[in-house]
Amino acid sequence: MLVARDYSRYPELFRTGGTFPYQEHDRAFLSGVAQGLRTLPRQFLDAVLPKLPALETRLSTRANILDVGCGGGFALVEFAERFPNVRCTGIDMEPVSIQMAHELIRTQGLADRVEACLVGGESLPPEFAGAFDLVTMFLVLHEIRPELKETVLKQCAQALRPGGQLLIFDERYPSGPAELRDPLLIFTVMDLGQSNQHPSGNPRPPGPRGPTSDR
Ligand SMILES: C[S@@+](CC[C@H](N)C(=O)[O-])C[C@H]1O[C@@H](n2cnc3c(N)ncnc32)[C@H](O)[C@@H]1O
Repeated sequence: MLVARDYSRYPELFRTGGTFPYQEHDRAFLSGVAQGLRTLPRQFLDAVLPKLPALETRLSTRANILDVGCGGGFALVEFAERFPNVRCTGIDMEPVSIQMAHELIRTQGLADRVEACLVGGESLPPEFAGAFDLVTMFLVLHEIRPELKETVLKQCAQALRPGGQLLIFDERYPSGPAELRDPLLIFTVMDLGQSNQHPSGNPRPPGPRGPTSDR
């Protein structure tokens, strides 16, 4: 229903090549999307994390997590509730989402170790450098404006401690109709260790490693 409201603009957007970015939608849309996506972090923790034993050990022991594009904060809360020793920081450039995240963190009683900040992934504060064991992006990479993507990925790499991991959970584009119809291929998880970083600071182009990889 919420998405259907966009359809009336499609003919104009297809004609002009214009876009209707996520952040320009109204509160009902942003809240609806946040609710609709709330199970993704749980799916990751239940179905994928057991295949990434090094990451699971890291989270169970103690870890600082940065969730880039945290939206309504469901991943922050899910990770924090599942792993009592983690601290979670979420950032997002969209104010309504950050308000929703603040409210969720407060109602779940997690304000002592979970926070959400209104800031774009392309302009992370200097104190974030080297501060995180894990940087996550749940359905965010495809949303970042193309001209900002490289900067955001560099900032994510810089936010990691040596040996930290970048986790990207996102939609994948099917190579043909058969893949389009296979629900198991809708999402892909990439788990990239900082050892993949080139000395120049530019992330090396990663090969998709699928959900069963770890280091
Ligand atoms: C589809 S939503 C996913 C939100 C959340 N991760 C989830 O799973 O519910 C994409 C999010 O990415 C955020 N986003 C897009 N570009 C961004 C940027 N440059 N920096 C920070 N957040 C960004 C949007 O504001 C939006 O909240």
